Amino acid sequence: MELIIKKTAADIAKDVARHFVHFVEQNPKANLGLATGSSPLDIYKHIIYLHEKRRVSFAQVKTFNLDEYLGLVDDKQSYRFFMQQNLFNHLDIPLENTHFPDATKPEGYDALIAHNGGVDIQLLGIGSNGHIAFNEPFTSFSSYTHIVNLDEKTRKDNARFFRDMNEVPTQAVTMGLATIMQAREIILVILGDAKILALKQLFCMEKDESFPASILNEHPNVKVYTTMDLFKKTFCHKA
Ligand code: GLP
Repeated sequence: MELIIKKTAADIAKDVARHFVHFVEQNPKANLGLATGSSPLDIYKHIIYLHEKRRVSFAQVKTFNLDEYLGLVDDKQSYRFFMQQNLFNHLDIPLENTHFPDATKPEGYDALIAHNGGVDIQLLGIGSNGHIAFNEPFTSFSSYTHIVNLDEKTRKDNARFFRDMNEVPTQAVTMGLATIMQAREIILVILGDAKILALKQLFCMEKDESFPASILNEHPNVKVYTTMDLFKKTFCHKA
């Protein structure tokens, strides 16, 4: 893993967005793996800005999102809605090129990704318990796309996106850890004080299924982005 420390979250967003847009310029048929949550929001804003400024077309790009909730009371809380609002509606990407896992046939998602030639760059955030996508602690490292029961910790962390805790789903469908590991390149963005322990465990822990993100240590091409502030809070202890 390569650790990249930037001064601010805005600097990270610009760097990562430039990387994605440059890749699409060079590879108009790129397959992009995308994530939801707060961490990617500024990245998506900057991708939209660069798409307009540099006239980079996403018409032939295909996207594969990591996960989707099950049993939502309001479709506006879905990750599909989040992606439409924050990215897809602002690009020239056709709706049929944007993919999410389907709870009625989870394993079909791995086949779909493989059929399209695999994910070129996968964007990831991390949960405070080390989850990536919705692979909660003790998910098998050899898992493919599957349905999960969400941890209470994850439900509480994500409650801010819902009107109240009762509306937070208890299940989701997610790419598995083996699915994620097949991406040719992975970019993990770690932001916010709630992720201090996760950042530390990522670099200091041995590979262990109790901390799902630890599998990333085995991938040949992972960039981990964080801010100087979070890096210092995590690794520089006062004497
Ligand atoms: C959700 C998503 C994850 C994401 C995590 C962290 O649980 N399923 O893919 O990494 O939230 O999100 P945030 O960036 O908002 O902290």
